[in-house]
Amino acid sequence: MSERKKVSLPTLFTKKASGEPIVMLTCYDYPTASFQDEAGIDIILVGDSLGMTMLGYESTLPVTMDDMIRHAQAVRRGAPHVWLIGDMPYMTYQPSVEDAIRNAGRFMAEAACDAVKLEGGAEMADRVNGIARSGIPVMGHLGLTPQSASALGGFRLQGKSALQAKKIVDDAKALEEAGAFAILLELVPEQVCRVITERAGDCIIIALGSGLHAHGQLLIYHDMFGLYPKFKPRMAKVYADAGNLILDGLKQYVGEVADRTFPQPENWFEMQEDEYEELKKLMEK
Ligand code: KIV
Repeated sequence: MSERKKVSLPTLFTKKASGEPIVMLTCYDYPTASFQDEAGIDIILVGDSLGMTMLGYESTLPVTMDDMIRHAQAVRRGAPHVWLIGDMPYMTYQPSVEDAIRNAGRFMAEAACDAVKLEGGAEMADRVNGIARSGIPVMGHLGLTPQSASALGGFRLQGKSALQAKKIVDDAKALEEAGAFAILLELVPEQVCRVITERAGDCIIIALGSGLHAHGQLLIYHDMFGLYPKFKPRMAKVYADAGNLILDGLKQYVGEVADRTFPQPENWFEMQEDEYEELKKLMEK
């Protein structure tokens, strides 16, 4: 089997130029990262959604840089070939350009990430510019931006009216001009995604629940496999119901321990008979 080549920025832009869709997924842990790397995923996002999917918070807001670094390190160990993006958590870039650069740098230095992502439009252009000018590739994130869910009125489609859509289109241009190598469009109408993709210059557009007209697609891993029982977004496709498969296995294990059908001889080890006899004699002394 030939060794997979490391995905680089030129790899991604070559795909964009040739019209070959870029495949992106979220990931938060080592074993899943190994599977994703082997499956040929181009980009992994270590999303701050891990606050909900892995840590059980109600939102992404309590997630810290240290949480993100720990998970990103594990993902990098499992997926050495993918283009790895660290998602900047709440209030690690909003306060100032300097905060944004320092925290972006942590993803690169401590977790061997290839890039970072942050949420927001024109108002974040100076953060994007500062990070990009420090030599760190930055992905923007527009549309439904979960860190601002309260201000956006919840987890809902963004850019439904022409005026709202125009703002998203303008924000995308502002991020591109600030130096973003890519922009994620989450939950915007497919026409808005199409307009932004058609107008994109040196910038890769990735869609999450925003239609086919982007340079690539993102899904949340836990949605793909039914692993987040609290919520199943309409935009997600469930490729396998791993959540219920795991639940069935757990119930079977509980039952088999209770009725002593687990373990069986193939699940344990025995010592040689003469050693056992010797042990019994030793115990009598
Ligand atoms: O944290 C995350 O996984 C994200 C996605 C919702 C795009 O930012």
